[in-house]
Parts: sequence; C-alpha cells; structure tokens
Amino acid sequence: MTSPILEARALSRHYPGGVRALEGVDLRIERGEFVSIIGRSGSGKSTLLNIVGGLDSPTGGSVAVNGTPLDFSDRRALISFRREMVGFVFQQFNLIPSLTARENVEYPLLFNYRPPAERQEKANALLAMVGLDGRASHYPGQLSGGEQQRVAIARALVADSPLVLADEPTGNLDSATSEGIFSLLQRLNRERRVTLLVVTHERELASYADRTVEMRDGRVVA
Ligand SMILES: Nc1ncnc2c1ncn2[C@@H]1O[C@H](COP(=O)(O)OP(=O)(O)OP(=O)(O)O)[C@@H](O)[C@H]1O
Ligand SMILES: [Mg+2]
Repeated sequence: MTSPILEARALSRHYPGGVRALEGVDLRIERGEFVSIIGRSGSGKSTLLNIVGGLDSPTGGSVAVNGTPLDFSDRRALISFRREMVGFVFQQFNLIPSLTARENVEYPLLFNYRPPAERQEKANALLAMVGLDGRASHYPGQLSGGEQQRVAIARALVADSPLVLADEPTGNLDSATSEGIFSLLQRLNRERRVTLLVVTHERELASYADRTVEMRDGRVVA
C-alpha cells in the first residue's frame, strides 16, 4: 500500500496557561483528496493547518508527509519542506503588491532555479487555468478580491507541491465569489489531482470537498 500524503497522529498543541489548541488529533489524507475542515472559531483549525504545513510546531504527536516524518526541531529541514511540499493559500491573499499577477505566481519558482522563460510560461498557463489570462500584467491593487485569490491559488500550484493548504480562502469574499473559488478548487483537484486541505466556516462551501473533517475544542469530532 502506498503511504498517505499526510498522516498526523496524536497531535497536540498546548500553550502556557492551559490553552489546548489541539488535543490528540489523528488525520490521514490520501493523495488526490479534497478535504475541508470546519469548526467554530477557536476550535483549532488554523493551528492544525499551520502544524501540518510546517509553520508551527506541535507540543506532542507526529506528522508525516509523503511517508517522511517532519522534524520540527530542524529549522532548515522545515524551510525546504515548505518550499518543496506545500502550497499555501491565505485568507488575506498575501500577494506582493509591487509584483504583477504573473510575477507573484512565478515567485515560488525563484527558489527552484528554473530559467526565466520556463517560469513565465508556467505562470501564464496557471493564470489561464484560473481564468485570469487577461490580467497577468495587473498589480494586486488593480484586481478584485476574488481575482487576487485566484492569483494566490495559481501561486500555490506553481511549484507542483503535492499538498495545498488553504486557511479560510474565502473569508474576505462575498458568497457568490466564494462559490466560484470553491468550484475552482474542486476543478483543480479533479483535473490536476492536487491534494487539498481547506479550512472554511461555511458548511455549504465545505460540501465542495470529497469529505469534511469537523473540529471542536481542539479535537476532530467527525
Ligand atoms: N499564540 C497563542 N497563544 C495562546 N493561545 C493561542 C495562540 N494561538 C492560538 N491560540 C488559541 O488556540 C485555540 C485555537 O486557535 P485557532 O487559531 O487554531 O482556531 P481556529 O479554529 O482557526 O479559529 P478561527 O475560526 O477563529 O480562525 C484558540 O483558543 C486560540 O485562542
Ligand atoms: Mg483560524
């Protein structure tokens, strides 16, 4: 049997003062799955996503990606893990304002030492895939929120990371635009077999995923 793309075991994240942001979380995600995480504010969704993405460390338990355990004590290993294995999409888009849409999408490839022509071609193809071929030379400030998030999604895919994590990617968007973003994610999952783990507050949006993981008080309850 092939190893799952992501396996978290008995994951906990305790803070001084008794806050238990995560408590004994087990999570297994197969290659090519689209999984949504829902749960009330403070239930630990962001904490879980940040730990499996190597942005935060657990206080207990383990995470393996692609069969390899993450060593949270090795900062350099975590940096290369994030670069090679994970694409991130954030609620605030986090595009670089002084770069065009295409330059933002290309950005992660600067660390992969790919030639400029190849980077540009790849970025253009992804912008076309998210429906923004006509916007490649626009700066983030010249794009709508939904368009900016589509640029951020293209950026999360450009390095062909096996795992794409999104924390409330539609938290700043109206409901029609949010549906558009989730149906785009669904299409990318189906057509490109991108593995997606996406946090959302809204059950209706969560239903675009193959399955939903529900969190409560730092635990997975369903
Ligand atoms: N640096 C920190 N120090 C102490 N407690 C923290 C810290 N970061 C998060 N927490 C606590 O951990 C719990 C889980 O937070 P988390 O951000 O994961 O929730 P969430 O489910 O993403 O919530 P939201 O839907 O509001 O984004 C919360 O009770 C929060 O107050
Ligand atoms: Mg959160």
